[in-house]
Amino acid sequence: MVIPTDVNRILAQMTLAEKVSLVSGADGWQTQEVARLGIGSLKTTDGPAGARGKLSVGGSQAVFLPAPAGQAATWSRADVRAIGRVLSREAETKAAQVLLAPTVCCVRNPLGGRNFESFSEDPFLSGALALEYVAGLQEKGNVVAAAKHFVANEQEFERFTINANISEKALREIYLRPFEMIVKGPSPPGCLMTSYNSVNGLHADMNCVLIQDILRGEWKYEGLVMSDWGGTNSTVESLIAGCDLEMPGPSDRRGEKLLKMIESDENGALAVALAQSSGRVLSLLERMGLLGLSESAAKASRTAEEKSSTAATDLQTVCDVVANGTVLLKNSWNVLPLLPHQISGKTITFIGPNARIGAAGGGGSASMNPQYQSHPMDAFKKRTAQCGVDVQVEYSIGAYSHKWLPLVTRDRWTVATNTGPDSVLRLEFFDAPDCGGSLVETQYRTESLMDLFDTAPLALQGTSRVYSFRMTSTVTPGTTGRHAFGITSIGNSRLFVDQTLLVDNYHWKEPGESFYSFGSSEARQSMDMVAGQTYHVVLESSSKDYMDVSSQNNAGETIENPFGTQPSVRLGFLEQPSGSLISDALELANRSDFTVLVVGLNEEWESEGFDRQTMELPGSQIELITALLSGMTQPSNLIIVNQSGSPVEMAWCDEAGTIIQAWYGGQEAGHALADVLLGLKPPSGRLPMTWPRRYPDLPFATDPESWPGVSGQVYYKEGVEVGYRWYLRQHVQPQWWFGYGLSYTTFLVSNLHMTMTQGGLILHVTVNNEGTFAGQEVIQVYCWPAELPERRELVSFQKTSLLQPGCEQVIELDVQFRDMAHWDCGHWLLEKGTYVLGICDHAGGLAIVRQDVSIPSSLKWDP
Ligand code: BGC
Repeated sequence: MVIPTDVNRILAQMTLAEKVSLVSGADGWQTQEVARLGIGSLKTTDGPAGARGKLSVGGSQAVFLPAPAGQAATWSRADVRAIGRVLSREAETKAAQVLLAPTVCCVRNPLGGRNFESFSEDPFLSGALALEYVAGLQEKGNVVAAAKHFVANEQEFERFTINANISEKALREIYLRPFEMIVKGPSPPGCLMTSYNSVNGLHADMNCVLIQDILRGEWKYEGLVMSDWGGTNSTVESLIAGCDLEMPGPSDRRGEKLLKMIESDENGALAVALAQSSGRVLSLLERMGLLGLSESAAKASRTAEEKSSTAATDLQTVCDVVANGTVLLKNSWNVLPLLPHQISGKTITFIGPNARIGAAGGGGSASMNPQYQSHPMDAFKKRTAQCGVDVQVEYSIGAYSHKWLPLVTRDRWTVATNTGPDSVLRLEFFDAPDCGGSLVETQYRTESLMDLFDTAPLALQGTSRVYSFRMTSTVTPGTTGRHAFGITSIGNSRLFVDQTLLVDNYHWKEPGESFYSFGSSEARQSMDMVAGQTYHVVLESSSKDYMDVSSQNNAGETIENPFGTQPSVRLGFLEQPSGSLISDALELANRSDFTVLVVGLNEEWESEGFDRQTMELPGSQIELITALLSGMTQPSNLIIVNQSGSPVEMAWCDEAGTIIQAWYGGQEAGHALADVLLGLKPPSGRLPMTWPRRYPDLPFATDPESWPGVSGQVYYKEGVEVGYRWYLRQHVQPQWWFGYGLSYTTFLVSNLHMTMTQGGLILHVTVNNEGTFAGQEVIQVYCWPAELPERRELVSFQKTSLLQPGCEQVIELDVQFRDMAHWDCGHWLLEKGTYVLGICDHAGGLAIVRQDVSIPSSLKWDP
């Protein structure tokens, strides 16, 4: 038999059931193969900061890249394209053809749980960088992007059901704009993923206006549209709207249900929609070389082997990008960089919850199992040693910042196993509640985040199975004291220590934020324990009660997301701290020459599944910072580093001399920070989002209808006034503007020239490094009507190459008239008049140089 590779010929040979199978996912990450016709299975993998492979936790190792907020802070097209290229190689190691990224939703509110996964508050910056990310990723042809979440997924609160009410103007100018830019760009993403939420009354996956009229009709998008995981909200409407693929499988809304509907559909509209959608899945399979396979190869594509990343050459790129995105917020006394002759023979103390174990990324589907993690203090020691600089490095934690008790550690927890020395837990799975029924499988694990979404025994996965597991381990505390155990779980759970029930989370009622907010709040109990003594710990959990508990959201809709149906458990343990953390840290700082305080958030605070409740630093970090600033004999020697994906309140900012925003740097976070501190790499990042002074300054603080929503509705009342646009128009001063960031050097920008082109103009400007360190400058072009300076918007940007002191570069900036236009009654309009193109240091800065442009008659574009 000749196996066809041509989409139409294959379609003609397929049965209805086979076509249905193509548009209904197979398992957590793959589509269904049709072996008889040589059709293979597409494999997807998360996510924006790496290619994780088929397991959400504990899978094969991958390169952990900086979070997109940090990528965007580079303001460098070249850097983001390089990230895309690294990701294409990474996806290959995971045998995946679809990377579930980039996230191009907007940073609307600093509390948004997935801000760290997004690029920016500005649609132009987001779109321009996403374009590079996708182009780099798709360049080799082995993998395509699934840009997400189309559209208006700016919050996690009630994300499956919330209805985002957005004006047409804001939707077009802010939220759809980055999608439009990448779809119309030179390398459109192979896939788009719909958002969970509704937009103006209709779920995104069933939204004909968005998918049919705008995406496919106006923008002529030919790629595949897939639902978010569990985000196919109907059997018929979603297919009719053009959402081609339901993910994940086994199918909830399609499969048999869809087949029956099509068979009884008299007017044939469903069959037509099915042919179109299965055709688009086939086209992608063809593009990925997954058609025309032998029967056995088609089957094998479902189980292609994954490899741990061994990439070494890419790591330098990753480290450079992290450093390039690092934003120097303050350097008032020029303490940075710490040059060898200044620190040689000196003592440098690292303090803070993120100093020894830094935060590599946010949580949720963007989390990774990295090859390794470089942490701030260790990396600093390593770099100084490599450079032959003799420093004494000390450490004191100073404050905790955890939301849940820390995961158990291998130095204290262990379980007898023959699978290697690393296991800390044994899990025995049973096919009935309460560890009854038969033993199905025994697993050994290296961490106590037991997320079972895709790691439960295969026979037990799926939404309707009721099963249980028993976890066994031992703990030998290093200190004597009253030590705490904490568990959060989706199903019911309880923990025994030496056969005595210690933590009972069996009939939990209080929901928490673990497991994408499907889990309970943390149940904690402490007990007196003795150093060096070994305790036996057993935890039991089953999905029995979960099935009985209501899973309705506030709007009364039932949530059946696949992430919420396994009895996953998180176990934490903390030995009672001795002494006073803050005063110990202060005392140490006062004995040191320099203090590097690494504070911030982590994946427990910024994650898919929930938004932050406040903009404050969690735990006792604020007390720690203020104690150091007021108690240090030389506070000028305090360098404060913040790791987070969104702004945090810095009420103490005026007292601090040196502040760095380091974002989440993935596995190279520590190395890149050390390079920046030591001046081995200049920080050249600029904020991709405005940094508020205080959360109460924002309109969201007092209006629950606009954040996070009331009765299932959220109103985007600010319209197009998002981020810096709002600050400018409302005349509110932020802490730091969008686009802000310092360098170790200073630049002179001069000699602005303009040339008109067909659809816009080109600016040329000379940038000169006037200082004594090498550096990179970001040239930002804002446009505003001559009479309305508060209407300024970013229309072009370029980053210089690394300029040595005294060197200059001529930068070319392309400004398109269409990027200066606004949405006006069904089309884009640039009204006649005079506009200013100003090169500014940031969105709120005065123009360093400017050029007036006259538009003699209005210009119009179709959507
Ligand atoms: C997220 C997506 C992600 C998918 C698969 C969903 O919960 O919203 O961004 O790609 O899960 O992990």
